[in-house]
Amino acid sequence: MYSLIIGIQKERMLKKMENREQWGTRAGFLLAAVGSAVGLGNIWRFPYVAYDNGGGAFFIPYLFALLTAGIPLLIMEFTMGHKYRGSAPLSYARMHRRTEWIGWWQVGIAFVISTYYSVIIAWALAYTYFSIGLQWGNDTGGFLMAEYLQRVDIVNGAAIGSVGSIVPGVFIPLVLVWVIALGILFKGVKKGIEKANRIFIPTLLIMFLMIVIRALTLEGAVLGLEALFKPDWSKITSSEVWIAAYGQIFFSLSIAFAIMITYSSYLPRKSDINNNAFIAAFSNSSVELLAGFGVFAALGFMATQANVPIEEVATAGIGLAFVVFPEILNSFPGLNGLFGVLFFGSLVFAGLSSLISIIETFVAAVEDKFKVSRTKAVMLGGGLSALISILYATQGGLFFLDAIDYFINNFGVALAGLVSVVTVAWFLKKLSSLQDHANQISDLRTGLWWKICLGVVTPAVLGYMFIQNLVNNIRNNYEGYPTTFLLYSGWGVVIATILIGFVLASLKWAEKDLDIKTYSQGEGADD
Ligand code: ALA
Repeated sequence: MYSLIIGIQKERMLKKMENREQWGTRAGFLLAAVGSAVGLGNIWRFPYVAYDNGGGAFFIPYLFALLTAGIPLLIMEFTMGHKYRGSAPLSYARMHRRTEWIGWWQVGIAFVISTYYSVIIAWALAYTYFSIGLQWGNDTGGFLMAEYLQRVDIVNGAAIGSVGSIVPGVFIPLVLVWVIALGILFKGVKKGIEKANRIFIPTLLIMFLMIVIRALTLEGAVLGLEALFKPDWSKITSSEVWIAAYGQIFFSLSIAFAIMITYSSYLPRKSDINNNAFIAAFSNSSVELLAGFGVFAALGFMATQANVPIEEVATAGIGLAFVVFPEILNSFPGLNGLFGVLFFGSLVFAGLSSLISIIETFVAAVEDKFKVSRTKAVMLGGGLSALISILYATQGGLFFLDAIDYFINNFGVALAGLVSVVTVAWFLKKLSSLQDHANQISDLRTGLWWKICLGVVTPAVLGYMFIQNLVNNIRNNYEGYPTTFLLYSGWGVVIATILIGFVLASLKWAEKDLDIKTYSQGEGADD
């Protein structure tokens, strides 16, 4: 009893010394981690990526990427955040001063993602409203591109890269998205993020389950599921399919862009890291699978109604959610508007819980490094991202969004993942000490497999992928976009995040900031 009281007192004292906010409960942290992972990546991106990359055959690289890179990296990031107790730059700096730039680079990637991620949520918000009375009409493709987005090339005949004017239909919901997201972040970790996720996640699950169950009971659903799961084995040897699988896992699990390090830095010292990582990863993949079921069952229904093969109705890219789904809703047997609200509303909730985690990475980083209050950090970081996001709310915004999303994922998230594992495993040789740290406080202990995955398998696959990807993109312009356009809205953005990483890392910390000996059993920053 006495030692328990001493223990509690010690924990309180350490917390006070750290002056770092903490999650209220384990469930609160888990909900926030799942809330971050489950996002637009699961509902908007996964179904078309899986379908585009061989349907059933995609699951092999997907599972491989999940088990050998996704979960091991999630454990690594949870451990880093927990052990070094800082935002990504601070955690990297505490691990080794020269690696701080990786933390800033990852924060930079998160920043870029937040600028366009918020815009897709804004579209979903608008489409939730359009669902009432199926306002998109019969030509859903024309509605999205010409009427809603007022795409600059269609409406003005202007070239890709032109901005055009602001589109009010995107701008107004975008303002709303920012007000909600920043409003939550102002309130902090426990009262803001944790509380919001307690509402968002259950609401999302209920809404989403309703639409998936309905989709599965539609006529022709089996046809859709067959198309999703029927393996196209010719694709499994293609490097592009593997790249897509890794990209999907990284984006979807929110790894390699500073989020999970930041979230786990708010964990109490006694926290089961390994178990939490498995729960978060499997919950995320379950929602992903559910989204695949729902979307493809609905596609099967649509193909049956139109009496055409499924290939004709399953389009790739953003169109799947915003063109094909409205079309499916048009021919729903009943309660069309309600199911539209459920689908697009799910996208909004899933997106918002992820967006707040993405913004939190730079809020926490600015707070840590520049010693400003949360309010100022939210206003500064969130405000800047909100301002930049207006670019995508213009008539030319879609092209910028498409190019930046592609480049930041392929040459940002995936590359940052590669650089971080190689640095931690090969240069700093920190895998053993991180593993010991996590194993000491977790029920479930990781073994040699964890080190092999991070030290050998992941660097090998990601390294190979990176070279392949680089060669492909140098040879062929993504989507055939003009080279100058790709130079500033693709390559330029990717390089800028790295440069900004170096610049911000060159600013000095106060010596005591990097000394974690005072409140961690682990070591301080090495030189
Ligand atoms: N993990 C988030 C998503 O899947 C970013 O959308």
